[in-house]
Amino acid sequence: MTIPIEFSSQFIKDHSPPEEQLFQSFLQSGEPYTSLFRNNPWLIPPDAGKPLEWGSGAYWDTTVARKHPHWKKIELPVPTRDLHQMRRDFVNWGFCLIQDGLSAAQCDRFRARLFDQAEGERLAGVEQRTPTGQYVNTLINKGQIFAQCIEQDPEAVQAGPLIEHFLNETLGRGWICHSFLANGADPGGQPQILHIDQGPLMPWITEEAPALVNTMFIPQDIHEGNGGTLLIPGSHQILIEAGSGGPVGKMPPTIQLEAPAGTIMLFDGRLLHGTGVNRSSELRFVATMSNVKPWMRTQENWALSVDPAVLASASPKLLHRIGMQALTYGATVEGFGLGARGRVGEAVGDTRPFREAADDGSYLRVGELSPDSSLETLDQPFTLRSVTEQARRRASK
Ligand SMILES: [Fe+2]
Repeated sequence: MTIPIEFSSQFIKDHSPPEEQLFQSFLQSGEPYTSLFRNNPWLIPPDAGKPLEWGSGAYWDTTVARKHPHWKKIELPVPTRDLHQMRRDFVNWGFCLIQDGLSAAQCDRFRARLFDQAEGERLAGVEQRTPTGQYVNTLINKGQIFAQCIEQDPEAVQAGPLIEHFLNETLGRGWICHSFLANGADPGGQPQILHIDQGPLMPWITEEAPALVNTMFIPQDIHEGNGGTLLIPGSHQILIEAGSGGPVGKMPPTIQLEAPAGTIMLFDGRLLHGTGVNRSSELRFVATMSNVKPWMRTQENWALSVDPAVLASASPKLLHRIGMQALTYGATVEGFGLGARGRVGEAVGDTRPFREAADDGSYLRVGELSPDSSLETLDQPFTLRSVTEQARRRASK
């Protein structure tokens, strides 16, 4: 077969000088990290092959704000139940702390289930090890309390209604859960590289508002001794000022988060942060539930991973939150969901029946058809056909 010369790989290569390729100076800029490391070499992550350095001013070698020479006279966020204060803290510093976001009983239940799960996964040999410590992934399958947290059910997380409202404000209604997992800072672990959670969007910074907001559940006291999360308060503002693709200058120093068990931290997807170093002998976990726009690809592939039993008992709200409520520009299945608005309980976007059909082995996809197809082929019980009919019936009720 002869194809026109213009479509050959060599021809394309010969006609693609770097200076002519589109958008490359922006997309390949490596910003904001390129300038961040150039102007703040103390933010360069440690060499995993060498012992951690202390005393040389590296980002992991810090303390809590109230003891930090740079920060101790500055009013940084402290746990509060004042929503007005939370809004100010979030905008000014990139994070806010909800006091008693989990009640004492909720916190005990959360911590007990999480620590048991972590130990069980270690015993089963299925634990996920990271340089900072053990991760416990896909919490939705590992205890009812975690599914309830994704729903922000006040039974499991008393600050749920406030968190939902805050996420509606900051992300816009219809946001979904990106993932919900527990991050361990194990004794002797490495610090995490300081990063922003909406990093995959870089070099876009989304100056006007975040594209991701994280909800960090703190089920045990965290402090400088046990790997309190590292943060640069206000770093999101420095990135915003630099703009998408712009170079950043000097950063103020990191702090380690200090917060009592039961606190929930909300933080902006543009805030520089990372897991701290645990210098105690005890395990330390926090659990992060990040949240994104409903059309974004989620970190957790919920459609595949959620346990059938969890799915069977999931409320319309939980289904929506794990991205199983399709909308025109996201999560459609064989076109089912085009035209849907991504609303909770919306029949014409409910993709759960496809997953259930896949689980029971009956999912029949529409494949190659033509005018020459036999009647038998055309009349197959395509899952799309039955799901669409059911959804139309539900929608018309
Ligand atoms: Fe993060």
